[in-house]
Amino acid sequence: MNVVTSMKDIRVARNLLKSPVGLVPTMGFLHDGHLSLVRNAKKQCSSVIVSIFVNPTQFGPGEDLTTYPRDLNRDLKMLEELKTDLVWTPTPEIMYPPDFQTWISVEALSRPLEGMMRPGHFRGVSTIVAKLFNAVQPNLAYFGQKDAQQVAVVKQMTRDLNFDLEIVVCPTVREPDGLALSSRNINLNPTERKAASVLYRSLSVALFSNNAGERDSQKVRRIIEEEITKEPLARLQYVSCANPDTLQEIEGMIEGNALLSMAVFIGKTRLIDNIVIGD
Ligand code: PAJ
Repeated sequence: MNVVTSMKDIRVARNLLKSPVGLVPTMGFLHDGHLSLVRNAKKQCSSVIVSIFVNPTQFGPGEDLTTYPRDLNRDLKMLEELKTDLVWTPTPEIMYPPDFQTWISVEALSRPLEGMMRPGHFRGVSTIVAKLFNAVQPNLAYFGQKDAQQVAVVKQMTRDLNFDLEIVVCPTVREPDGLALSSRNINLNPTERKAASVLYRSLSVALFSNNAGERDSQKVRRIIEEEITKEPLARLQYVSCANPDTLQEIEGMIEGNALLSMAVFIGKTRLIDNIVIGD
C-alpha cells in the first residue's frame, strides 16, 4: 500500500493505477462504516484510493475540529488489511495555502437541515470534495447514506461542475442496537452510549407507523420527537421529514418517499441519523 502526502505525489501515484479508480474520501479514525465503502470500492474498481483529511473548513467556530479523533497508524493498518492501493494524507497547508480564496457552494441543497444548524459546513464539504476529485480524478467516488444531505450536495455539485465520475452511495452501517457507526461515538461515555440507541429506535418507530399506514408528515415527526423525549440524556436539535431529492420539508401527506433525519445531542456529543421511508 502506497501512502502519499503531497499534491505532486498523489497525481503521480494515481496515474500509475489501473482504471477504474475508486475514491473513498474520509476524515480518518476509521470504523466499519468507512471500511464498508472501501470494500464496495474494492469490488467495483481495479484500484482504490482512500483520502484521510480532517477538513478544517467544514467545522464551525464552536465545533470539534481540535478534538476530532485521529489515529493515522491504526487507520493505515485497517486499510492495508483491505488491500487499499493508495492512501492520500494531505495536510491543511497543502489543501489550503495562505492565499486560498476559491469556494464551492451548492446553494439550495446546503440550506436546510445540517446546513441550517452548521452554517458554512457544506461550503467546506463541497470545496474539499471538489479538490479531492480534481487531484485524484476518480472514475467512481464512494459516500455513505449516513450523511444523506452530504450525498445530495455532492451529487448536485458533481452534476453542476461536470465531474466525469459516478457517485456510489453505500448503506449506513450500524451497531447491533442500531446506533450508526460514527467517529464521534468514541466521545460517548458508557451511559451515553446506551442512551444513543434512541436515535435509531425513534426512526424505527416512525418507519413502523408509516408501514402501518401513517402518511401525515407532522405526525411522523411528532412520533420521533416523543420517542427522543423518553430518553433523559437526549436533546433533540431537529427532526425532519423531507423530500429525499430536494430536502424540502414535507407539509401535509407523504407521497412517495420521505427522508426522515435528525440531529440529537447525547450529553455534549452531537449525533445524526436518517432513514428513507415510503414506497
Ligand atoms: P467522514 O465523517 O470521515 O466519513 C467518510 C465517509 O464515510 C462519508 O461518506 C460518510 O457518509 C461515510 N460513513 C460514515 N459513517 C458511516 C456509517 N455508519 N455507515 C456508512 N457510511 C458511513 O463525511 C466525511 O468524512 C467528510 O465530510 C468528507 C466527505 C471526507 C469531506 O471532508
